[in-house]
Amino acid sequence: MLKKVLISCIAISFLCLYGLSFATDMGPADMTLQAVKDKAKKPKPSVFPHKLHQDAYKCGDCHHSAKDGKQIPYEDGQPIGKCEDCHFKGSGMPKGLDSYKGAAHKNCKDCHKKVAAEKPELKEKFKGCMPCHPKK
Ligand code: HEC
Ligand code: HEC
Ligand code: HEC
Ligand code: HEC
Repeated sequence: MLKKVLISCIAISFLCLYGLSFATDMGPADMTLQAVKDKAKKPKPSVFPHKLHQDAYKCGDCHHSAKDGKQIPYEDGQPIGKCEDCHFKGSGMPKGLDSYKGAAHKNCKDCHKKVAAEKPELKEKFKGCMPCHPKK
């Protein structure tokens, strides 16, 4: 009996470890995005429902890594950093990508624009600075 219990315990902990080592870090379900390296005089945080986007898109639609200053496409299991780790003033990135604002606006707004063109019912929702910087 004791032997059986012991064997089950070992089997369970092995399964847990195995499961954990292959689980992808999904990050938070909801986020408030705000530059911290290049802090704006008038901070303008952005709402970001991460999970909602994960359910509709691939990680690589937004995440990538870099080598020798060149972008490398997303690969499953890669470490995922903050956009600002690479996109900040003085990073040597091309103009427009050398800030969190620039990188985020290109990524977020380009897609929202595309989506709104395909789904006119979203035009109102994606108007101006909405839905990312809602008025308080
Ligand atoms: C699709 C989402 C989205 C839209 C639309 C959008 N932004 Fe942003 N914006 C962001 C994100 C994400 C950031 C980076 C995080 C941050 O620092 O706020 C950002 C950053 C900024 C910043 C830097 C603020 C700071 O605290 O660093 C300014 C200024 C800004 N946006 C202005 C605007 C204005 C003005 C509009 C409308 C004309 C607009 N944005 C539309 C998502 C958006
Ligand atoms: C629509 C764009 C988008 C998609 C799709 C997306 N993410 Fe994200 N994710 C972001 C943004 C933006 C952040 C915030 C980065 C920052 O804080 O600078 C983030 C943050 C994260 C973080 C936290 C990183 C940190 O160090 O704080 C993890 C982990 C993560 N994402 C994993 C994933 C995985 C796994 C997928 C696919 C299943 C995915 N994301 C899909 C945009 C996206
Ligand atoms: C490990 C560094 C690194 C991180 C982290 C990173 N980027 Fe980038 N990104 C790059 C490099 C390098 C390029 C290529 C710049 C060039 O064109 O010379 C790039 C290019 C881009 C581009 C323009 C090309 C394209 O794919 O459309 C956008 C937009 C962008 N990044 C957004 C983001 C966003 C949003 C995040 C956070 C979710 C992020 N990046 C995180 C290094 C990084
Ligand atoms: C690849 C396409 C894509 C990218 C990239 C993307 N979005 Fe979205 N976003 C969508 C779609 C599609 C919706 C859902 C529209 C709907 O059906 O209501 C959405 C909805 C939203 C909403 C509204 C959610 C709600 O509850 O109504 C916010 C806020 C938002 N996005 C912020 C962002 C920010 C900030 C970024 C960049 C960090 C970003 N998005 C990047 C496609 C995208």
